[in-house]
Amino acid sequence: MPDGEMIGVDAGQVKICLARVEDKYYAMNDMCSHFATRLSGGEFYPDDLEVECPLHDSRFSLLDGTPHEVPADEPVEVYAVRVDGDEIVVGPAEEGQ
Ligand code: FES
Repeated sequence: MPDGEMIGVDAGQVKICLARVEDKYYAMNDMCSHFATRLSGGEFYPDDLEVECPLHDSRFSLLDGTPHEVPADEPVEVYAVRVDGDEIVVGPAEEGQ
């Protein structure tokens, strides 16, 4: 997965937005909290660690899932990520989400 990119991943029933910035990976729930659309279809801002929803442009922090622009006003879950050899392991949800 190239630096500065994000992808949508299906893990069973859970849809995950997975992003890489330099050597660190971030994961959050891929479904916007405002309406059912995938955040990974939007814009990624690696310098701000934010993802912009493609439908109404709310921007979500990859650090804690908080939306920084309306109309979304509820956070999405973020998940712990670790690299295990050639695999990227996601989950469980971080505390406080
Ligand atoms: S669907 Fe994401 S901000 Fe509205």
